[in-house]
Amino acid sequence: MYVPKEVEKILFTREQLDECAARLGKQLTCDYMGKNPLFLCVLRGAVAFFADLIREVECPLSIDFIRTQSYAGTESTGRVEVDLMKIGDISGRDVVIVEDICDSGRSLVEINKALGALNPRSIKTVCLLDKPSRRTVEFQPDYTGFVIDDLFVIGNGFDCDGRFRNLPYVGIYKE
Ligand code: IMP
Ligand code: MG
Repeated sequence: MYVPKEVEKILFTREQLDECAARLGKQLTCDYMGKNPLFLCVLRGAVAFFADLIREVECPLSIDFIRTQSYAGTESTGRVEVDLMKIGDISGRDVVIVEDICDSGRSLVEINKALGALNPRSIKTVCLLDKPSRRTVEFQPDYTGFVIDDLFVIGNGFDCDGRFRNLPYVGIYKE
């Protein structure tokens, strides 16, 4: 297995990530059956988790993509930009935001604001990881894969300056 020297320790294995996607997918299947939800992937970090998750949801849904940018290296720049890209009409839709992690919470607050202005029927948030100790604004994801301590992670979509998104596991970054 490819483990670059920047991986201090593997935090979640491929098996654990698959189990997590299956567990959350089951829950979402129950909650969204008959609602034709719109699953929104927050690029780029959520892309691996998103692909795993939607394949575990066993009811009709559609997908789309939005982007945010807030991090440089392992430190937040404090500014969050939401790019709704070419999102279509979401009025009356049940929207499920799929994000990699809830850290300070600022990205998800801004995403919820931007989407809320487009009159969806509901908005819920799924995060693969949650770092509650890092919160600077009030936000609680509706569905969470794993709660972690204040660690910087890479792999399974998580990057450090654009690298390591392709690792099939989540590892702790070695500075
Ligand atoms: P926020 O601070 O909750 O707005 O999170 C902003 C973004 O920071 C997340 O969507 C991630 O892309 C990124 N991020 C936060 N923690 C980590 C980490 O441990 N590794 C890699 N990216 C992270
Ligand atoms: Mg990111």
